[in-house]
Amino acid sequence: MSSYDVIVIGAGPGGYVSAIRCAQLGMKVAVVEGRETLGGTCLNVGCIPSKALLHATHMLHEAEHNFAEMGLKGKAPSVDWKQMISYKEKTVGQNTGGIEFLFKKNKIDWLKGWGSIPEAGKVKVGDDVYDAKNIIIASGSEASVLPGIEVDEKTVVTSTGALTLPKVPKSLVVIGAGVIGLELGSVYARLGAEVTVIEYLDAITPGMDAEIARQFQKMLTKQGLKFTLGAAVQGVEVKNNKATVSYVVRKDESEHTITADTVLVATGRKPYTTGLGLDALGVALTERGQIKTDASYATNVPGIYAIGDTIEGPMLAHKAEDEGMAVAEVIAGQKPHVNYGVIPGVIYTHPEVSNVGETEETLKAAGRAYKVGKFPFLGNARAKANFAGDGFVKLLVDAQTDRILGAHIIGPMAGDLIHEICVAMEFGAAAEDIARTCHAHPTYSEAVREAALACGDGAIHV
Ligand code: NAI
Repeated sequence: MSSYDVIVIGAGPGGYVSAIRCAQLGMKVAVVEGRETLGGTCLNVGCIPSKALLHATHMLHEAEHNFAEMGLKGKAPSVDWKQMISYKEKTVGQNTGGIEFLFKKNKIDWLKGWGSIPEAGKVKVGDDVYDAKNIIIASGSEASVLPGIEVDEKTVVTSTGALTLPKVPKSLVVIGAGVIGLELGSVYARLGAEVTVIEYLDAITPGMDAEIARQFQKMLTKQGLKFTLGAAVQGVEVKNNKATVSYVVRKDESEHTITADTVLVATGRKPYTTGLGLDALGVALTERGQIKTDASYATNVPGIYAIGDTIEGPMLAHKAEDEGMAVAEVIAGQKPHVNYGVIPGVIYTHPEVSNVGETEETLKAAGRAYKVGKFPFLGNARAKANFAGDGFVKLLVDAQTDRILGAHIIGPMAGDLIHEICVAMEFGAAAEDIARTCHAHPTYSEAVREAALACGDGAIHV
């Protein structure tokens, strides 16, 4: 039976990136993956397919709302849902196929099936047992569904079912105003569904800078999404292909129901470690069921590492990728470092919303003195030309040193614009460093520079 330097369990962004880095560092590597295609949740039923649907429906929105003013006349396109789904699937196929190619290129074996760890140093796939000097658990996460709710992936769906609905529902209730709920809620609102989002907290997108969250909610409301905040969902009942959601409004404890064609449960995710045999191995978990690791991603069992959604920290593909590369370097004897203070977050609605580092709320709670530099996209020529003047860039900097502590963007290409600030933060830059860097005109990036200028003597175009 084959033996490997490293066997990675799970071929999502954490696992496949880790495997490639291990191979690049000269190790003999295999990846265990039970899905038909590589790429995990992100590529198959998460980030990538949802972005395809977000892109297609954004195009539709542009055609319906902005084409005529630009002199593009004619009827707005009608939706061929089957074709939109097949475009989405083609996009997924190109990406998952790309990883298969990368595996071949890097001489990584794909052990097809679901893996378990019968003992340290061994991985079992089907009836075969392989030797592995090191095992990396990168088995990802699954939807965390509220008790009292039964998901059938037809009428009551998680994000997985929401990406393959047979038709566009007339009405959709989304439980949870987090990233998944708002991205997929946007898709179906643009396709004409009546979308109601029910959220337990009093604001959308928990943890986001409160000013941005308020602005974001206003923009989504303008796009037709309805919000019921401060409401705890109690259960969902399905009858005649319709789902009735019952919820309690927390401030007065009043009970309500709402009925829809489809209900999307988007109340978070939890680590997926079923069947790995962690109990028998004695792998220590946190109270929330995450695998406990030290700063080198080592579990308490020698030779077993864990990364990505299975461990603590934000459940983000790019965080898993960084950990995947880092753990490979740890195994190779290097001393990598992931800077958890500079992990961007992006919501791919329109406009996009992005953030990195501290929020005003976290800075206030820590009693830190800070300054705010803000710039609205309405002052940005490129944004105005492109009907993208809604939103703003907000920089938070240390009041004494001007060092950048956090950034929040709501507006066009926010998910790309944030990275200039991430690099600046990695280098410990001050807002003045961005302000004194020449930015090409006319670009959206100028709004970032203007926000940096606003931290000093003032922005120019407001
Ligand atoms: P989330 O944690 O972002 O949001 C869940 C929401 O559900 C919270 O606002 C919570 O207060 C609410 N909720 C919980 N119980 C409730 C109840 N009984 N009634 C009403 N509301 C309730 O989780 P989400 O959106 O499911 O996403 C899961 C994970 O996937 C997140 O960690 C997210 O970061 C990640 N993800 C990231 C994406 C991105 O980076 N663009 C895209 C999709 C997912």
